[in-house]
Amino acid sequence: MTNSTILKAMGLCLLAAVAGAAPAAASQEIAGDARKGAAVFKAKCGFCHAIKADTHKMGPSMAGIYGMKAGTTGFERYLGLRDVDFVWDNETLDGFLKDPREFLGRGTTMPTEMRSARDRAHLIAYLKTL
Ligand code: HEC
Repeated sequence: MTNSTILKAMGLCLLAAVAGAAPAAASQEIAGDARKGAAVFKAKCGFCHAIKADTHKMGPSMAGIYGMKAGTTGFERYLGLRDVDFVWDNETLDGFLKDPREFLGRGTTMPTEMRSARDRAHLIAYLKTL
């Protein structure tokens, strides 16, 4: 074997390894990055949501939202989140942020649909820090 065949063979192995790893990575949970989440939040959520406790804008405050029972921030104008019984964790936040109306199965005044699973993972990582 010449050096170049060895190199080609190594290249093919590498390609195979990358191709094999891709589907596995996609089905795994995406690691959220709170810093990227902060940027997404500023661009898409900050208009309606303050991060200061007890400060409500068009939507409820996000302070301490992770681990909190949904609809209990003291915000007075809940609609879809009135009288619900679940806690905000990775799964509920991911479902709600993806499609609030479908997730709640009723009307809601939270309009934003985050279609990117990656952005949702970043956002959730950020919400955990608030
Ligand atoms: C146009 C204003 C608006 C935007 C933009 C918006 N929201 Fe909301 N959000 C609301 C309102 C209003 C509610 C209450 C919904 C209801 O009760 O139907 C809400 C509820 C929530 C809740 C549940 C809070 C609780 O008290 O249980 C979370 C979490 C949330 N929003 C996160 C986000 C994130 C993250 C983004 C950005 C991707 C975002 N929102 C964008 C208005 C908005």
